[in-house]
Amino acid sequence: MKKLSLFLSIIVAVFANDAVHEFAPSKDCQKCHAQIYDEFYGSLHANATPDKDAIHKAVWDKQVAMTKSEQYSCGKCHTPTADNLDKMLLPTQKAMFDANNSTHQEAISCAYCHRIEGIEKHKQSNTNIISKEKKSYYGSTRSSLNSPYHKIITDENINFKNGNVCIGCHSHNLNKAGLNLCSTNVNDEMSQANCVSCHMPKVEGSFSSIIETKTHSFHGFAGAHYHSDMLKEYVNISILRNIDHFIINIDNRTSHALLLHPMRMAVLKINVIREGKTIKLEDEVFIRVIGKDGKPSMPWVADTTLKDTMIGANEKREVKREFKLQKEDKVNVVLGWFLVNPKVLETLGLEKEKVAKEFKVFKKQSFNF
Ligand code: HEC
Ligand code: HEC
Ligand code: HEC
Ligand code: HEC
Ligand code: HEC
Repeated sequence: MKKLSLFLSIIVAVFANDAVHEFAPSKDCQKCHAQIYDEFYGSLHANATPDKDAIHKAVWDKQVAMTKSEQYSCGKCHTPTADNLDKMLLPTQKAMFDANNSTHQEAISCAYCHRIEGIEKHKQSNTNIISKEKKSYYGSTRSSLNSPYHKIITDENINFKNGNVCIGCHSHNLNKAGLNLCSTNVNDEMSQANCVSCHMPKVEGSFSSIIETKTHSFHGFAGAHYHSDMLKEYVNISILRNIDHFIINIDNRTSHALLLHPMRMAVLKINVIREGKTIKLEDEVFIRVIGKDGKPSMPWVADTTLKDTMIGANEKREVKREFKLQKEDKVNVVLGWFLVNPKVLETLGLEKEKVAKEFKVFKKQSFNF
């Protein structure tokens, strides 16, 4: 009996149920939710597939080459609207990503998110439970007036109310060795802020072309790729000058680590401007390196964290430089990141890919003395 229930829980953990897996294409929403559609269309959610995200493709291709995998298990979060998601996830079945299948290319679509009825907690990664009704969408703000196209359910969905409908995919992701590759710390008591309040702030413009509103919730999903300027306010940078050294304080007022994916590399660049000349001080690197047998490795191989200097959730990090500041000196600091650690660009064949190799500036600040 015990064996059976364990077996069942494994099945439930990955079971997507293709029977309910038919979603209105996001294009259908464009007519009435034009601005939301435009924002979404340029976001990583609309572009999470191997065909549209070069970084994701590079890692997946490498995994296929090394493990001979014939199952695109990434589909659970990267192409959850796939009409054959079960085959991508169930043991003994097989299915790969197919660029010619439009249900794969829909990625994390409008209708998918708005049909998340519940979230099941699981050890390896959580699972979204999708409602069976194809044209009833969950929301958080409006009354239950219905649109001419679909029904709206706003009262019953706790995940939309508390702004954490995201944690079916973003809470954690353990690999086969049980190493958590990516975690947003949802077990920590969250303050007033939640995923939605930070990543989908209210911005100008109507949420629909039928009912005019002044603002709507931003659907470009501000993050490490796009619109990071919208999140600047959650990280404060200050400086403390001492007799023979100075300290830069980075105050991460976020409920999760500054960056989450183990491939990222954040850098603090520090320059002192003295009498018109620039003195470059040593960079400070923030990184989480995963690996096996003491060496860095790809995510599907890794079983430990070898090094972790990433700025943690709600952490105040001090960066000290043994440098004597003088009157009229100016200190310029830049906090930013590489989406892919420059050390693995070549291994992944990404050395020519701009998005992977460029340094993205998050926050710049100057201090005068
Ligand atoms: C024919 C126009 C039309 C189309 C097409 C349309 N909608 Fe709507 N939608 C509306 C209107 C009008 C409202 C507002 C109704 C109200 O205020 O109660 C709305 C409200 C919503 C809400 C409610 C938000 C909340 O927080 O209460 C969601 C979610 C939503 N639409 C999602 C979608 C999705 C997803 C699609 C595409 C699959 C879509 N809509 C297509 C007209 C449309
Ligand atoms: C179906 C799974 C799923 C759900 C639900 C989901 N996400 Fe994501 N999200 C992803 C995946 C997968 C990526 C990365 C895609 C890629 O890199 O190709 C991502 C990327 C992001 C990013 C990074 C954007 C950038 O520019 O770097 C942010 C921010 C984000 N999601 C926020 C949210 C928020 C907020 C919610 C809830 C309202 C949410 N996500 C719901 C799967 C999901
Ligand atoms: C449990 C959900 C989940 C599964 C399963 C999953 N991912 Fe992701 N993936 C995410 C989320 C969420 C993000 C965005 C996280 C972030 O930006 O920190 C992401 C981001 C990525 C990125 C960064 C992409 C970029 O453009 O920066 C890569 C690479 C990636 N995933 C590869 C994979 C591969 C390969 C698989 C399958 C072997 C996979 N993922 C399976 C949720 C998942
Ligand atoms: C207090 C505000 C705040 C809250 C709450 C918050 N975030 Fe973030 N998030 C940030 C900041 C700041 C960054 C880093 C800057 C950036 O990526 O542009 C970030 C980055 C991210 C990234 C990109 C990381 C990467 O490595 O690519 C993802 C994905 C993300 N958050 C998802 C979430 C999810 C899901 C939740 C809810 C569980 C959440 N965040 C809660 C502020 C917040
Ligand atoms: C990653 C999940 C996700 C995706 C993808 C997504 N939404 Fe939303 N949407 C949400 C959440 C969460 C809210 C509630 C925001 C809030 O509480 O402020 C929301 C709110 C809305 C609203 C009400 C907006 C408002 O300003 O009150 C509409 C309408 C809507 N979405 C339509 C769409 C359409 C159309 C698309 C695709 C073009 C889409 N959504 C894609 C998660 C998503």
